[in-house]
Amino acid sequence: MNFELSEEQLAVQSAAREFAKTELLPGVIERDEHQKFPAEQIAKLGELGFMGMMVDSKYGGSGMDAVSYVLAMEEISKVDASASVCMSVNNSLVCWGLETYGNEEQKQKYLTEIASGKAIGAFLLSEPEAGSDATSQRTTAIDMGDHYLVNGIKNWITNGNSATYYLVIAQTDIDKGHRGINALIIPKNTPGVVVGAKENKMGIRGSDTHSIMFQDVKVPKADRIGEDGFGFKFAMKTLAGGRIGIASQALGIASGAYELALKYSKERKAFGKEIMNHQAIAFKLADMATAIEGARLLCLKAAWLKDAHQDYEQAAAMAKLYASEIAQWVTNEAVQIHGGYGYVKEFHVERLMRDAKITQIYEGTSEVQKIVISRNVLKA
Ligand code: CAA
Repeated sequence: MNFELSEEQLAVQSAAREFAKTELLPGVIERDEHQKFPAEQIAKLGELGFMGMMVDSKYGGSGMDAVSYVLAMEEISKVDASASVCMSVNNSLVCWGLETYGNEEQKQKYLTEIASGKAIGAFLLSEPEAGSDATSQRTTAIDMGDHYLVNGIKNWITNGNSATYYLVIAQTDIDKGHRGINALIIPKNTPGVVVGAKENKMGIRGSDTHSIMFQDVKVPKADRIGEDGFGFKFAMKTLAGGRIGIASQALGIASGAYELALKYSKERKAFGKEIMNHQAIAFKLADMATAIEGARLLCLKAAWLKDAHQDYEQAAAMAKLYASEIAQWVTNEAVQIHGGYGYVKEFHVERLMRDAKITQIYEGTSEVQKIVISRNVLKA
């Protein structure tokens, strides 16, 4: 087994690390404080090819592998998880979903713009009463012959206001249950689309999270992805890859907090020596480093399976479950190592601790990951 990264993968990692340091770090505290979406930084990420990393260059993407995507997500998330969730949704839900299941016309019309970073995409599945229970869609897409008429409300939508295009999951035939659900591409400027207020969140406060209302929105049939009734499977397939992105985000939040704690423990003195020389701190750092390495290996394994065109659903769910759980714990320990300084904003770890929580909730709660994993292990 070869654990060495290729030269290309190392170059992507180093470019993402440099970008995070020079472009994202300045202002990250203020953006969090004022809930400011990192629009300029996302535009630059797009120019550098980080918004359509795995998309074929003929559709405006960078043609990289999923391993490179994990490496980049970790580096960006170490510094700014609000930017990285935008990147993750755009890459692994919107771009991947369109490239894998969209037809040629949809790819030319929508994917090229989104993958090249000229437009942002959003993925609209969650509803007030359909979070984990994703088959219970209440948003309707009624078949009107040549178009669908869409009505309903979607909640907690990442990139809700900044996106130009939405991928919307909606129910066409309630009698068919999940087989009556469709996935539609709806430009945000379509008449009847209304962007609700921005959510005032605990963490990832720079991320642009809104509810989106649909009031008699006409969607041409040409903008349906796949066959009639394919929408739920589309969502499940897409989310499996999305979980690699969020797992890598959780990994980055954890490793960002760990690196800050390590640095601080070398500088801060107490009881006559640097605190890293107290075993209480050294053992904490050892446990944190071990947990992070475990999460990193799970993320890379899931990405490797994806690159090898093998089934990665279980591996992605395991990576997301584990990385998000350890991100909670590692960021908490990083605050503890910083003592009182950890509880104030300037030292970054309190933000990372708040940001870590969402990774256990979105793109499937930890409990949803356990449903996916247990179903796979029980059928083995
Ligand atoms: N690939 C293909 N098909 C799949 C699938 C997969 N990975 N998973 C399920 N399906 C199919 C099943 O085979 C079944 O089809 P058939 O009846 O034809 O066999 C159908 O989908 C229904 O599956 P289940 O009976 O397993 O469905 P369920 O109701 O028991 O729910 C669940 C399964 C795993 C809990 C699912 O509802 C789920 O993943 N929920 C969480 C949703 C989620 O992750 N939401 C996140 C929102 S997006 C987001 O957060 C983005 C953001 O902004 C950051």
